Amino acid sequence: MVNPGRRRGMNQELEKVEKTEDKNLDLALRPQRWDEYIGQNSVKDNLKILIGAAQGRGESIEHILLYGPAGVGKTTLAYLIAREMNTNIRITSGPAIERVGDLASILTNLMPGDILFIDEAHRLNKMIEEVLYPAMESRTLDIIIGKGPSARTIQLDLPPFTLIAATTRVGLLSSPLRSRFGVTFRLDFYTNEDLEKILARSAKLLTVQISNDALSHVAACSRQTPRVANRLLKRVRDYAQVHGDGNITGTTATSALKLLSIDLLGLEETDRRLLQAIISKFNGGPVGLQSLAAACSEEIDTIEELHEPFLMQLGFIERTSRGRLATRRAYEHLGLAFPETEARLAL
Ligand code: ADE
Repeated sequence: MVNPGRRRGMNQELEKVEKTEDKNLDLALRPQRWDEYIGQNSVKDNLKILIGAAQGRGESIEHILLYGPAGVGKTTLAYLIAREMNTNIRITSGPAIERVGDLASILTNLMPGDILFIDEAHRLNKMIEEVLYPAMESRTLDIIIGKGPSARTIQLDLPPFTLIAATTRVGLLSSPLRSRFGVTFRLDFYTNEDLEKILARSAKLLTVQISNDALSHVAACSRQTPRVANRLLKRVRDYAQVHGDGNITGTTATSALKLLSIDLLGLEETDRRLLQAIISKFNGGPVGLQSLAAACSEEIDTIEELHEPFLMQLGFIERTSRGRLATRRAYEHLGLAFPETEARLAL
């Protein structure tokens, strides 16, 4: 018999292997060309002009800020831009750059024309931002050597590079940082039609047959987000493999999604728990994010970045200065009676 400690170790190893497999799959599903990148047409059109013009002049493109909800293809777009520009891309994130030295090392190792991608840019600390300003503006890196009265600044020249920053919370970026980007694009949630196209392409790459019924069902449950669509496709494929002949039909998709507790609008258990909490523990709101997070034992950031944007997009939550309110639609979706008080009738 395997002892529990060893089993935990084995499970962790298995989880690691599964995560790596998922990551490899995600990479395999990532679009490699513009025509494979579905939706976000206005962003794509603008980027093509930006890239074409910069290439015509033999220059690097200007710094780009991409913002929008999680999973709508910001990183994917950065990879595509690098591919189009035929340059290397260095990937990092706001929380990963802890010290000025970390950023200095990244910047001084860039080759001319490279793209530096910083994900979760709203998590960059102020000291790092201040080193970024001159790097973005005049390609110089100011480094302070020593401390106290004998401290001195040396200035290093950096190669021409493009910073692509991505964030889900553009309002948290300082305005000096925001103003240093040449262009800013907002990426939006996807239509079901676009998600069906993304799913059809992914199914082909995964060499799995999927019916039109299943495509539209999975798309409708994908929170208007390609990352979720591809994740659900993989889970539905697993289900079809275990419970059927490997082909994904409407019925297998429905059963697999039901087993995952995903409802017809794509709400997961946590979304429903949040709505339930606002309604039953806080009389429908308004409730502050901290109280809501505590009542549901969830992280504030998780609620704010993953659940709330989609619940707001569906019109289930309203954000007021006094906190979050559950709307009439939220009550109806959960099969609950909406309290017809005067203040609530407006919702
Ligand atoms: N994966 C992530 N975003 C995508 C998109 N816009 N089109 C196709 N696949 C994607």
